[in-house]
Formats: sequence, C-alpha cells, structure tokens
Amino acid sequence: MKTIIKVDDVCTKFGNHVVHDGVSIHINEGEIYGILGGSGSGKSTLMREIIMLQPFDSGSIEVLGKSLRHISYEQKMWLVKKTAVLFQFGALYSSLNVLENISVPLLEYTDLPQEFIEHIVMSKLVMVGLKKETAYLFPSELSGGMKKRVALARALAMEPKILFLDEPTSGLDPLSAENFDRLIRELSVLMQMSVVMVTHDLHTIEHVLDRFCLIYDKKILFEGTLDEAKAFEHFALREYFSAGGMRAWKKE
Ligand SMILES: Nc1ncnc2c1ncn2[C@@H]1O[C@H](COP(=O)(O)OP(=O)(O)O)[C@@H](O)[C@H]1O
Ligand SMILES: [Mg+2]
Repeated sequence: MKTIIKVDDVCTKFGNHVVHDGVSIHINEGEIYGILGGSGSGKSTLMREIIMLQPFDSGSIEVLGKSLRHISYEQKMWLVKKTAVLFQFGALYSSLNVLENISVPLLEYTDLPQEFIEHIVMSKLVMVGLKKETAYLFPSELSGGMKKRVALARALAMEPKILFLDEPTSGLDPLSAENFDRLIRELSVLMQMSVVMVTHDLHTIEHVLDRFCLIYDKKILFEGTLDEAKAFEHFALREYFSAGGMRAWKKE
C-alpha cells in the first residue's frame, strides 16, 4: 500500500505549552483516516500542520512525496491544488449564492470559461446530493446540513487527491450526520480520494474510518483499525470510548 502522508516525530509548542511531543503517523492512499483525541489534545493543530497552515518545531511531514520542511513555492502550490479542506466551521461567503461559493476555487486556480465552471459546479452539487435549484440560493436560505454539503462541494471542485475534514458532523442532528458520513464514504470511492478527518463522532469511527490514530498525552497512543483498537489494552483508550458509550467497544 502506498503511503501518502507520513508524519515523523513531530514536536509542536505554543510558547511553553507543548502540544505534540514526538508524533508519528502514516496514512495510506485511498483510506479514510481519523485523528482522534480529547478536546485540546492537538488534533486540529496536527491537521493544520499537514495542510501547511501551521509550522511545527521539529520532525518531518511528507505529503504526496513532498517534504514540507524543504518545499519550494511551486511544490507548495501543487500540493494546495491536490488537497482540499473543510473546516470545523466551514463558512460560506454569505453575500455569494451557492453557485458563486462553489466557483471560488475554480476561479482562483483555473482559467476555465464561466460556462465550464458552471457545468462543474452543477455536477458537484449533484454529487453531494443537492438539487440543481440550490445553486441560486444564498447561505442564509440553507439548513445546517445543506451548508455542509455546499462547503463539501466547494472542497471537491478541484477534484482533490486528499480531502481534509475537521469535525465535519459536529452541529448536525444524528440523521444528517449519518447521511453525511455515508456521503463521505461514497465520494471517497467514486473520486478515488483519500480522506483525513478530525472526529470524535462515534458513528463515524464505527462506520466510516478505515484506520485512525488517538492522540493522548502529546503522543500517538494508538494507530490502527477499530478491531485493533478493541484488542489494545490501555485504560486511556478504554476510557476514551466508554465515555462516549461506543456500542462496538463493548465486548460481544
Ligand atoms: N495558534 C495557537 N496559539 C496558541 N495556542 C494554540 C494555538 N492553536 C492551538 N493552541 C493550543 O494547542 C492545544 C491544541 O489545540 P487544538 O489542536 O485546536 O486541539 P483539538 O483540535 O484537539 O481540540 C490547545 O491547548 C490550544 O489552546
Ligand atoms: Mg479541533
């Protein structure tokens, strides 16, 4: 299996506050990978480091074969186009309609003519399960679940190799969250796209992730599949899941 992201012995501090003390993970091509951990454990920070929005103090990170420590401007732009991000509070531009919102990356990174862009936007809308009429609505006219889908369509506009999501189902009701989970799975297969997400949604962990890591006490306590996690004897891992009442965690 091909490794597309390799984080090796990364340390991060904010002032005196150490967040990561030797964090190492690897993510394979095509998989849906979760970054788990308690609140404030450094999940979002790790993701921001991988997408080059946050510097790290030591160690190395490689994404799609490029080392982020020694990266040229051209390589950086190449990576930016190959990856996409949906932030925790994935804000849409409130003064732009849905069509214009999804067009933003296409206008920024391509010279495609307007009608071509519209065609891509419409196909992405359908892909995320929205009707074409949605294109002419403004964010204020959309439900929470629809806003997430529009933000997702915008993230997919450039057909990324890797999609990054920070707590994508937070703030959604359980049914919308499950539908969103299913959509992510389908899109990852359809678009042959790897997905890396920060999550603590137990449904997502059970039904969507192929592998995950758990950040605990500034390090990676565990990395692997859910089945491997179940066999991993450590009070912190047990505590983490039982606090959420995870069904799959209980001994059959
Ligand atoms: N830019 C920053 N400046 C200072 N402290 C930060 C910054 N970003 C994150 N932190 C701190 O680092 C820790 C980890 O943050 P974060 O990665 O957002 O946690 P998580 O996503 O796991 O909840 C927290 O204590 C947070 O306050
Ligand atoms: Mg976070």
